[in-house]
Amino acid sequence: MKILLIASGGDGSGMNKVVAELYKKFKNDIYACFAGFKGLYKNDIRPLKDFEPLKYENEAGCCIKTARFPEFKEDKFFRVALKHAREFDYVIVMGGNGSEKGCQDLTMGGVKTIFIPGTIDNDVDNSEYSIGFDTAIDQCCQTVKNVMPSMEAMERSCVFEAMGRHCPDIAEECAKRINAEVCIKEKSDLKYKEIASLIKSRKKEHLSTTIILRENILPIKEFADKLNEMLKDDAVKTQVVGYTQRGGKPTKVELENSKQFALVASQVIKKNLSSKKVLMQNGKIVMVDSTAKRNTTLKKFK
Ligand code: F6P
Repeated sequence: MKILLIASGGDGSGMNKVVAELYKKFKNDIYACFAGFKGLYKNDIRPLKDFEPLKYENEAGCCIKTARFPEFKEDKFFRVALKHAREFDYVIVMGGNGSEKGCQDLTMGGVKTIFIPGTIDNDVDNSEYSIGFDTAIDQCCQTVKNVMPSMEAMERSCVFEAMGRHCPDIAEECAKRINAEVCIKEKSDLKYKEIASLIKSRKKEHLSTTIILRENILPIKEFADKLNEMLKDDAVKTQVVGYTQRGGKPTKVELENSKQFALVASQVIKKNLSSKKVLMQNGKIVMVDSTAKRNTTLKKFK
């Protein structure tokens, strides 16, 4: 039995837990690509043990390295990568929705695959959860908790930029957990007049306002400047939460979910099943056929 593990796209805290759990199950039978699909293309494949997976089990990051490799979509690169993937009985791909497409292409190419959602964005279809999401929210909430006392002391307000290039989930869930007064998830939420008047009325009562802004809507500074201009003030400050969302230590929930994802993936291999996706549905980690249609009834992880 020869198994290949690939991590692709942006890292997510908890990926190392998946790697370590899979290593515990398959020891010398499992290999890893160095840095995602790029490693597959270059045939940079090494025994998983060489990456010392147990050493990083409870740490953030990804010991086998992960990368973005858009060239994978191009036929000439894909063909080479596919040839290398065909050397394995199973190829496990951990990543976001772009990596899922790459994984599907390998399946179509005759490779037995297992896909595991791994991205802080939580943007994988049919799964309520992807590895890294809980830690990203936790880090976002921690940042707000560490910054707001200073804002309150000086009667200021603050805009926090949460990650999620195309996906509002981190911003939305963080805003909910910390009871933020304003959450900008989409361009249509940019109701400047309403937001400015809320900040003003709260300030009259000596209260600060917490605003969560999803990245990629507009530059955070431009947003705060506009509010300050309207308020004729400079008391709206900015804080980008940034890569702490990916590099923060995995939460307990993260470690538990990651362990379950690895466990179900290993069951697919032990039972010698066809290509599967390992997803969270209705709060449980389950395996579904790679060809399964989109399930629109699922709720997001809370
Ligand atoms: O991996 C997802 C993500 O963290 C997004 O939330 C963010 O927009 C993007 O990656 C950042 O990408 P990079 O690591 O290439 O700066």
